Amino acid sequence: MLSKQYSKNVNARSVIRDLFEYSKARAAEIGADNVFDFSIGNPSVQPPECVTKVAAEILANEDPVSVHGYPSAEGIPWVRKAIADELNARFGESYTEKNIFMTIGAAAAVTCCVRAVSDFGTNDKIITFAPYFPEYMVYARSAGVKLEVIPADIENFQINFDALEKAIDRDTRAILINSPNNPSGAVYSEETLKKLGALLDAKQKEYGRSIYIISDEPYREIVFRGFKVPYVAGIYANTLVCYSYSKAMSIPGERIGYVAFTDRCEDSDILLKVLAGAARDLAYVGVPALYQLVVGKSTGQTADLSIYQENKDILYKGLIDAGYTCVEPGGTFYAFPRSLEPDAVAFCERAKKFELVLVPGDGFGCPGHFRIAFCQPKEKVQRSLEKFRELAESYK
Ligand SMILES: Cc1ncc(COP(=O)(O)O)c(C=O)c1O
Repeated sequence: MLSKQYSKNVNARSVIRDLFEYSKARAAEIGADNVFDFSIGNPSVQPPECVTKVAAEILANEDPVSVHGYPSAEGIPWVRKAIADELNARFGESYTEKNIFMTIGAAAAVTCCVRAVSDFGTNDKIITFAPYFPEYMVYARSAGVKLEVIPADIENFQINFDALEKAIDRDTRAILINSPNNPSGAVYSEETLKKLGALLDAKQKEYGRSIYIISDEPYREIVFRGFKVPYVAGIYANTLVCYSYSKAMSIPGERIGYVAFTDRCEDSDILLKVLAGAARDLAYVGVPALYQLVVGKSTGQTADLSIYQENKDILYKGLIDAGYTCVEPGGTFYAFPRSLEPDAVAFCERAKKFELVLVPGDGFGCPGHFRIAFCQPKEKVQRSLEKFRELAESYK
């Protein structure tokens, strides 16, 4: 007999996977060019040239026993030092390799941080904000802690501070933020982050223990003109930065990222070992070495991200012109407009008649909205505007 917990999910349906299957079937009927599949957030551009070049050089020239050997649990020291140096140059910090912990993408980075600051099966809780990346529920559940979701401030997708203040209590171990945000594309302003920092400082004093910010930043590099992504760790000392190379370097399949924390962060002297303990509980010790070496030798490089800016400009203007209400995305490759009827599931179902494949906001904790993943060829985004217009017309 297999695990009840996992067996019960065998037939569970994933909205995004269902949409993906739907798109494939529809493409077979009417041709892929005629289906506007905006369901999946897979980077649509090639990794930077250095990625394949560096990987090939390492495989050709370096000692295979060392390249393919077990790396240390925290990550390869010189790679962590290279990342520390890059962050120091960009954000005026003073990280060393002792402040960087290599992970299997942002997923493991966030999960390890949740585990590092909380205790399984207690009343410990993590707070996040709608709309949120649905996997956060899985990360919290596997860590045996509660994830409390603060309702969205749908005017601008900044933080609803009244609701947050009421939610923080003695059991709060961390606030999990994601800016630039999947699915809204919103970027937290400096003002928002300073206000958050001040509130948490006051709450730490009140409860006499630390409340961390876990800052999930896989989209940090995908920022649009006119927006700035403030460095959270520079604003609030107890910040655990979770980074991933999946999106900006277009290497999601290589599963590589890191956690960074400053020496100002409470318990920073043991945090590296605590994170390593959390990773071990996830049944991995050390991140595959080849791509640690690749990112270590490619610091500061990204894929050509300009297509996301172009797509955002085309799509955002097109949506507003067609009468949709949408907070302007400041980064990522997502937009999150309001659906034209309260039931976003029904709206996305109707969108299929116009060959638009869209994801209802319900799964992101924000009904009444839908997500457009515009990591698609520019011409497709351009052609989709007519479909969005026709869809809007159908509601008049
Ligand atoms: C907000 C957010 N966090 C974490 C992840 C997981 O990233 P990774 O693929 O690097 O594990 C994703 C992936 O889409 C994401 O959108």
